Amino acid sequence: MSDTSTTLSLDALAADARARVAACAGLAELEALKVELFGKKGAITAHLKSLGALAPDERKAAGARINAVRDEIGAAFEARKAELDSLELERKLAAGRIDVTQPGRGQQPGGLHPVSRTRRRIETIFRNAGFSVEEGPEVEDDWHNFEALNVPANHPARAMHDTFYFPDGRLLRTHTSPVQVRAMLREKPPLRMIMPGRVYRCDSDMTHTPMFHQVEGLVVDDGVSFAHLKSVLHEFVQQYFERDLGIRFRPSYFPFTEPSAEVDIECVFCSGAGCRVCKQTGWLEVAGCGMVHPNVLRNVGIDPERYTGYAFGFGLERLTMLRYSVNDIRLYFENDLRFLRQFG
Ligand code: PHE
Repeated sequence: MSDTSTTLSLDALAADARARVAACAGLAELEALKVELFGKKGAITAHLKSLGALAPDERKAAGARINAVRDEIGAAFEARKAELDSLELERKLAAGRIDVTQPGRGQQPGGLHPVSRTRRRIETIFRNAGFSVEEGPEVEDDWHNFEALNVPANHPARAMHDTFYFPDGRLLRTHTSPVQVRAMLREKPPLRMIMPGRVYRCDSDMTHTPMFHQVEGLVVDDGVSFAHLKSVLHEFVQQYFERDLGIRFRPSYFPFTEPSAEVDIECVFCSGAGCRVCKQTGWLEVAGCGMVHPNVLRNVGIDPERYTGYAFGFGLERLTMLRYSVNDIRLYFENDLRFLRQFG
């Protein structure tokens, strides 16, 4: 009786074990099942232990059956383990696969904005000529931006500046000239510096943006004359455009310089022959300049009887447009990569 029940439960055990081994979905699950069947308290182990209770003549046959089942289940374990191992290997290979026939991703190195490139070039040219580079605040007060520069309240020149004001009366600087004022208040002559930076005017079209960049230059010393100004600007234009371009000075007016001039260069597009860009004149305006007005020197505590100085101001975007033949200033500020990549 006990023999029959053992045999039946052994067969049932074998069938159950086969099904469970086949259903194992992972190596950890398989290992747990192995312990359940073959471990110290395992079902197959229990069967082996039960042999002791059998009569010696029955023991041999029963032992052989249990061993056969044990070997068969053991083999099923090995087979399933091999299957799971190879599945795992395939999964790993698929996950780590490198398709060497794929096209490369390539690299898009960044580059400096054209206006930054121009600013750096200009700084280098002037540094080589002994100028220092100064900066100042973009939020200014009326005194530094206008008053000290000989532009009192209600002066008609204020109308040219389209100033952005804050409610408290401060303003966004309309030019880099207030940096001159700050430099002259801080240091005594000799002064020899350029002042690049952002400036703001309420204006927007093909050639104007509400924010743009200027580079201002200032030299104050004993015996500084208009001839020095002319030679420095002439030399700068040759170096910046890397060409022997003609340059001319047209009398003009700025409240902070006297005499004042506007600086034209020979048209870089038609070399002076006359074209659409220079409106058939052969010349392009690039800067304002002049001898620092005695009132400005007085306002910052420099004696105009002893010292003289010159100042000039360029538009950075304008110089960049002329160098790279760009015809719309707004392109610089739209951040269209197709435009910017051309300068890499
Ligand atoms: N500050 C003037 C402007 O923005 C330019 C300038 C600078 C003119 C220095 C003369 C001397 O219009």
